[in-house]
Amino acid sequence: MARTQIIAGNWKMNKTVPEAVAFARELLQGADLTGVEVVLCPAFPALGPVVEALSGGPVRVAAQNVFWEDRGAYTGEVSPVMLRDAGCRYVIVGHSERRQYFGETDETVNRKVKAVLRHDLVPIVCVGERLSEREAGETFAVVERQVTGAFAGVGETAAAGMVIAYEPVWAIGTGRNAAPEDAQAVNRFIRELIGKLYTPAVAEQVRIQYGGSVTPENAAALLGQPDVDGALVGGASLEVESFRAIINAARRV
Ligand code: 13P
Repeated sequence: MARTQIIAGNWKMNKTVPEAVAFARELLQGADLTGVEVVLCPAFPALGPVVEALSGGPVRVAAQNVFWEDRGAYTGEVSPVMLRDAGCRYVIVGHSERRQYFGETDETVNRKVKAVLRHDLVPIVCVGERLSEREAGETFAVVERQVTGAFAGVGETAAAGMVIAYEPVWAIGTGRNAAPEDAQAVNRFIRELIGKLYTPAVAEQVRIQYGGSVTPENAAALLGQPDVDGALVGGASLEVESFRAIINAARRV
């Protein structure tokens, strides 16, 4: 069974509620969104309003982060219960910016993944090596450690439905995307790892995105790789026109 491409726009800490809602409305107007799954990832305050603006349409919504407890005295945190109630389908977990600036580790990423799954949300697990790790030839070892850590204790059915985003840290926001064949090599490695951790059937089902300086210009080449099942887009998802162009590239794959 062919995997449906999944194009997610990670807005990071951008867009006020009115800006986010205006984007969502414009995206729905006149766009052909068939044959590809499209996801918007607004900041927390815009989640509910964007879900409402998209209601009845095919575009899904993801949160950019989550805490692992359902409720309680955790000032500033947001639980999976709240995200589900707000109408989210997906949650980005373990983005490199969270690992870098907010101390997330493979262990906390795993706790978040399990909490998200408990509430019938789907994690988009981010993995990827830093520049120094790539230069030291550690890319596969780093990615293996991150994927194995994130999936620890996750059952087969849940694993098959999950999304992994391979985002080399040196490619994020730098304008320097991974070469399509390098993205393919790591995504293939991740799929084979999932095959070993679970079964070949699970590996065939799991969707593996590429992220890091994806643009309308390079999207077709990246998405055309056999093990690249979509993109996690930062900067180019902030304008409707460039995001739509990437969606169109995915539809043609
Ligand atoms: P850019 O597309 O801006 O490089 O960001 C990628 C990213 O981090 C998406 O999560």
